[in-house]
Amino acid sequence: MKPKRIISFLLISILLLSCCGCSATSSGLSMLNRKKITELTQKGETYWAAYQEHQETGEATNVVEYQKPLSYVLQYPKTGCAAVDERIKGIVTDIRNAFDQEFLQANTSENEIKNSKETEATLYLGYEAYLTDNDHMSLVFFETHEADGVLSPHTRIQIFHFDLGEDMEIPAEELMWTDFAKNASAYTQKYFTTTEPYSKGIFGNYATLLAPDGGRFDRFAFTTEGVLFYFDRYDLFPGSYGIVSLTIPYEDMRTKIEVPKADTLLPPEKSNKKMVALTYDDGPNPIATNAILDTLEQYGAKATFFDLGHLVERYPDVVKREAALGCEVGSHSYDHKNFSKLTAAQISADVQKTAAAFQKALGKDPSVFRPPYGACNDNVKKQISMPIYLWSIDTLDWKSRNAKAILDVIKTSGDLDGKVILMHGIYTSSAEATAILVPYLQGQGYELVTVSELIQAKHGEIPANGKIYGYSYFQ
Ligand code: NI
Repeated sequence: MKPKRIISFLLISILLLSCCGCSATSSGLSMLNRKKITELTQKGETYWAAYQEHQETGEATNVVEYQKPLSYVLQYPKTGCAAVDERIKGIVTDIRNAFDQEFLQANTSENEIKNSKETEATLYLGYEAYLTDNDHMSLVFFETHEADGVLSPHTRIQIFHFDLGEDMEIPAEELMWTDFAKNASAYTQKYFTTTEPYSKGIFGNYATLLAPDGGRFDRFAFTTEGVLFYFDRYDLFPGSYGIVSLTIPYEDMRTKIEVPKADTLLPPEKSNKKMVALTYDDGPNPIATNAILDTLEQYGAKATFFDLGHLVERYPDVVKREAALGCEVGSHSYDHKNFSKLTAAQISADVQKTAAAFQKALGKDPSVFRPPYGACNDNVKKQISMPIYLWSIDTLDWKSRNAKAILDVIKTSGDLDGKVILMHGIYTSSAEATAILVPYLQGQGYELVTVSELIQAKHGEIPANGKIYGYSYFQ
């Protein structure tokens, strides 16, 4: 309603004003708008920056709208999973509507009494998105209001849970195991009363505040480190402490995350050998991929490459070498488009173009597929007549571009048996990590196999076309 009104008002003014030959005012108007938008965008960037460190998945989408009296400075993620993205948009709309209602109602009553001018308010929304190995995304929204130029010190936190593999939301209650709140209560009480600076500031009635049924433990995020809890400003400590967060390691919560899912019921293991599948996306690249292949060749190890059709055309020799070393060579689309945003016809065209590139380089079609961004929906599944492989450990190598950071992710991921590790074949840092990783894993007793080999050996299953082998499968 509001934006339309403003736009039509602007259009009318521009029309009227340009008829009079007086364009200075109209450009002045839009200049003011532009200035306001720039100002809000800058404020947004400062606000969002606080959360960027923990945006582990999805693509940040920014919305900056300047309107009178209410403006919006919003950031939320796009995951590429259709139903999840729809739900996230719905959540953002709910937050907007609640904000509108709060400020418009406040204005009405105030205006009636004092006949004073409207309150101008801005809604700021930022997020953190935590991704765990088994495809669970915890989405944390941080909401702050600014009224008449004053930013409230209070930030509202809401957390939502999603299974990206299954493209669905999961209610928090379903994720809390027996004694979840009891363990969290015991841990936080002990931690905050024995650790500086918390022990100095915690309110005297903390035992009541942190009781298992006090409602403070049903808002949490799952991270790779543990269960993350947020405590609001003034909730347990004086305001100067701000929002306090605490991650409780899973061991201390006593049991592992259990995401209810049909395919967590695995068939009995067919091989007792410890196996890991290394996978490399986005290549081939003559420098980085060849360096990775040098390492694999030296140690007699195998990996799976998910190559892009247009690069297969450009570097066919690298692809041939991947296949010659016994590696699995899969498709990662022609040029990395998000398949969940394409029509069936577009997907089909991409699949054919990619297959032609593989045919030319290898004399055969790719046999397995990994969607760009891991983005998969029913439409994608229907169009892909190959097994669809995701991963269970994301090294975030594209982000760190640092061999040590990549190794740290893997070495701190616990038991790697049956896991599929995601890296990218285009960074020298990933190749450097591989040079250390391959002998390290072999030293730990792991056999390095392709994803298809891993599925057959560990699950006794022949990979099926159009089936998604996702995060929970590779546990
Ligand atoms: Ni990719």
